[in-house]
Amino acid sequence: MFSTAFLDIPALQGASGTVTLPGSKSISNRVLLLSALCEGTTVVHDLLDSDDTRVMLAALRQLGCGVEVAGTTVTITGLGGRAWPTEAIEFFMGNAGTAMRPLTAALAVQGGDFTLKGVPRMHERPIGDLVDALRELGCAIDYLGNEGYPPLRVRQPSLQLDKPIPVRGDVSSQFLTALLMALPLAAQDRAITIEVVGELISKPYIEITLNLLARYGIQVERLGWERFVIPAGSRYQSPGTIHVEADASSASYFIALGAITKGDGIRIQGVGADSIQGDIRFMDAAEQMGAKITSGPNWLEIKRGAWPLKGITLDCNHIPDAAMTLAVMALYADGPTTLRNIASWRVKETDRIAAIAIESRKLGATVEEGPDWITIHPLPANQWQRASIHTYDDHRVAMCFSLAAFNADQVPVRIEDPKCVAKTFPDYFEALFSVAHTAAANIPVICIDGPTASGKGTLASRVAAQLGYHYLDSGALYRVTAHAALQAGLTLEATDEAAIAKLARSLPVRFEGEQVLLSNVDVTDAIRSEQGGMNASKVSVLPAVRDALVDLQHSFQRLPGLLADGRDMGTVIFPKAPLKVFLTASAAKRAERRHKQLISKGFSANIDALRADLEARDARDMSRSVAPLKPAQDALQLDNSSLTIEASVEQVMVWWQSRQVFGFPT
Ligand code: DC
Repeated sequence: MFSTAFLDIPALQGASGTVTLPGSKSISNRVLLLSALCEGTTVVHDLLDSDDTRVMLAALRQLGCGVEVAGTTVTITGLGGRAWPTEAIEFFMGNAGTAMRPLTAALAVQGGDFTLKGVPRMHERPIGDLVDALRELGCAIDYLGNEGYPPLRVRQPSLQLDKPIPVRGDVSSQFLTALLMALPLAAQDRAITIEVVGELISKPYIEITLNLLARYGIQVERLGWERFVIPAGSRYQSPGTIHVEADASSASYFIALGAITKGDGIRIQGVGADSIQGDIRFMDAAEQMGAKITSGPNWLEIKRGAWPLKGITLDCNHIPDAAMTLAVMALYADGPTTLRNIASWRVKETDRIAAIAIESRKLGATVEEGPDWITIHPLPANQWQRASIHTYDDHRVAMCFSLAAFNADQVPVRIEDPKCVAKTFPDYFEALFSVAHTAAANIPVICIDGPTASGKGTLASRVAAQLGYHYLDSGALYRVTAHAALQAGLTLEATDEAAIAKLARSLPVRFEGEQVLLSNVDVTDAIRSEQGGMNASKVSVLPAVRDALVDLQHSFQRLPGLLADGRDMGTVIFPKAPLKVFLTASAAKRAERRHKQLISKGFSANIDALRADLEARDARDMSRSVAPLKPAQDALQLDNSSLTIEASVEQVMVWWQSRQVFGFPT
């Protein structure tokens, strides 16, 4: 996940490949509860791993369900046909509405001595309409805090099932969903009727509930959207195995991506055209705009069809969330696009009509808006502007505007607060970058070099973390090469140059955070020692070895950008890098830092010896004929002898902004 203050997305040129999307939250938590309520074992594939599903799993374990988690596959052994717990249980529901509501209903109908609590915010989220409906049914529920809100205590009910149970439908469809999932527990010998009071909102979510109930053996009879009858003799039956569909709203960004970009197309794994989620109908709108979509069980493939896309006018009431994605597709169309009947956008995470209008205008677009509609005019070549997109803590704003990076003018796009995507899709940008591509010249590289122990590694990795960029520690590659050569029984001398170069060409090295793995073995400590540095210094003067490592180093230049640390980064490997920094510090200061570092790792060290050693190494490094230590001509020098790490990072960030690579103020 990108938890940086902003994410600069370089101009992108195409996209192709497969993305596997995270599971739908709504389906995940419903499936967990239904699996818990039936008899036998259900294997649930592709479950979403999020705060909300964790809360539900914890509750099911407390109830005595068998829960086995193996990655995204979870095996649930249900409670059906078994004795429910009789002891008092307290459940902690966090802030998970999709767990709190249906679990409350199921526990209240089944009965016991249960307390349901959550975080303070959960205690401000209304549940009164559900409690009223359950009380009507004969359930015993008490408010432990404020009337109408959790926490709640549930006791043994005395169910009265002879008259229809009224439930309000105009506040949250989750109340109806909760009743629909709980009442089959009580419908063994009589049909139970639910009557919706008020206009039912979010009908597609009720469709999901009904659909899943059918998968678990419960055929609810629906009379319009006012009356739902659970037939007598209803009994939960495990489907054995069930796949959680990927989130259809999340799919909209990749459907749009396939429609916008040239190439072999995008394949979305995890959701197909026959999805039970309402937002899947986004595909019809995307097709109208020009997308070519094919589909099979659990997959979609999207290619560019009409180009430019076609402007459309559409009533979007049935796909309120996914329709936002159409607004960004509209920038690539041949005429204006009008999205109608979207009043609900005004009361979502943010006022989404206003957000889309303001941010699209920043890009240069002409936008008109009304209380429940928006018209977006296409943005032709030569009119795109660099923009810093404000995201209003709204995941969908962030994901939508990332698609503006494919613009004809090849201007980059800055997304502020990119971590807001975590609400539904924590790894959205990683998924985007895994399929998007662009010319190497568009992927920024910042090079940082300097003498040994100048702190360049720390500086480079901190700057990388601030920008969300990849990090290349080229010194580590020489260290690992030397290590591998010694292991292979080679000397580090010129006589073995060809053999070492051969090893270096296909070095099985992997970086995982701070760890360096060679053939999956952790060699971090071995290569980070003083001896490891000496050995690296030896192999690094062999031209064939340097040459062998070039491709590997280039391969680190990946979206969204790279911090490259080491000797010839700015001169040989990435000579066109837009920012090069040469970091220095006095030998005394560097010896002091190295001393501290070694002591903290438990090595013994002598500060004077270290200083003499550093000075000797500087002299050798500067005078050697192969890749001598010297700043690139266009490097900016930074002496950090008296600077904190934070101050050095700040200086590099200021330089980076002032290079106007992205043209944004800090
Ligand atoms: O940065 P470091 O201490 O991990 O580097 C180890 C050795 O490798 C050092 O002697 C410099 C050399 N090196 C190099 O020649 N070229 C690079 N790009 C990086 C390191």
